Amino acid sequence: MALLPILHYPDPRLHQVAAKVDRVDDRIRQLINDMTESMYSAPGIGLAATQVNVHMRVIVIDISETHDQLCVFVNPELIAAGGEVEREEGCLSLPGVYEKVRRAERVTVRAQDADGRPFTLEAEGLLAVCIQHEMDHLEGKVFVEKLSRLKQRRILNRIKKQVRRTPPPDARRLAL
Ligand code: NI
Repeated sequence: MALLPILHYPDPRLHQVAAKVDRVDDRIRQLINDMTESMYSAPGIGLAATQVNVHMRVIVIDISETHDQLCVFVNPELIAAGGEVEREEGCLSLPGVYEKVRRAERVTVRAQDADGRPFTLEAEGLLAVCIQHEMDHLEGKVFVEKLSRLKQRRILNRIKKQVRRTPPPDARRLAL
């Protein structure tokens, strides 16, 4: 396994739309393993392949504190969404940035697992938020782009100022 470097906003490669995975083979499983190790090491609770500059529809998520509830989503599709929730989000591609984002409260997602087997998952709470955040990455979207133009400009200015010194991840907050 290998730790993969994570792209940082506003890297234009974060805006590339990921391609469908035709077949879940050993190459994809290697990617999943490397992404999982990189997510745990960061530390984060979710990572999309886009963030490690691989533009394939692959996501890993583990919202547990014990790192033993890994969820792998290959070719995820949102088939239902309901409710509304506003929650503070962070992102491994924007170290030190935490902002409230409005999203669906519950989602139903269809995907394939690391063996290529299809499954359907109903999620709510933090997991539902995380799934939506990571699926946005596959579409080339970063969570701050859901905020007002003014807020986005302020965040960009802050990032430019701190570009020489990346803050350490905040252990009390969650990065997706
Ligand atoms: Ni993210």
